[in-house]
Amino acid sequence: MALGEFITPPDREGKEKHVPVIHAPASAKAGEWFEVTVVVGEEVPHPNTPEHHITWITVFYKEDGPRPVYELAHFRPAGVVGDPRVSFRARVDKPGTLIALEHCNIHGLWDSSQRLEVA
Ligand SMILES: [Fe+2]
Repeated sequence: MALGEFITPPDREGKEKHVPVIHAPASAKAGEWFEVTVVVGEEVPHPNTPEHHITWITVFYKEDGPRPVYELAHFRPAGVVGDPRVSFRARVDKPGTLIALEHCNIHGLWDSSQRLEVA
């Protein structure tokens, strides 16, 4: 089995509350910082209760070519007072794909991705 088999299809009921929305530029300059924000529940807020909440958001980057995927950021909202959104800066050298993965304690894993060109 592969992890991808356990990621919820993006058209599943509840997607508006779970699919992480990536806000990042379409292109960046090699080696220069750019801003990334990932929001869970942007369209419809996700519940944020002790019984039902987002446990973590991780953002990966997969460069074009043979280099394996690597982690850019990992965020754990602080219980019911932490909003499931994260902003950070990153810099990369090659074009590739930003991948956001989040975990809901009831509804499991959801992901999204966005292409990043690098000049
Ligand atoms: Fe959920």
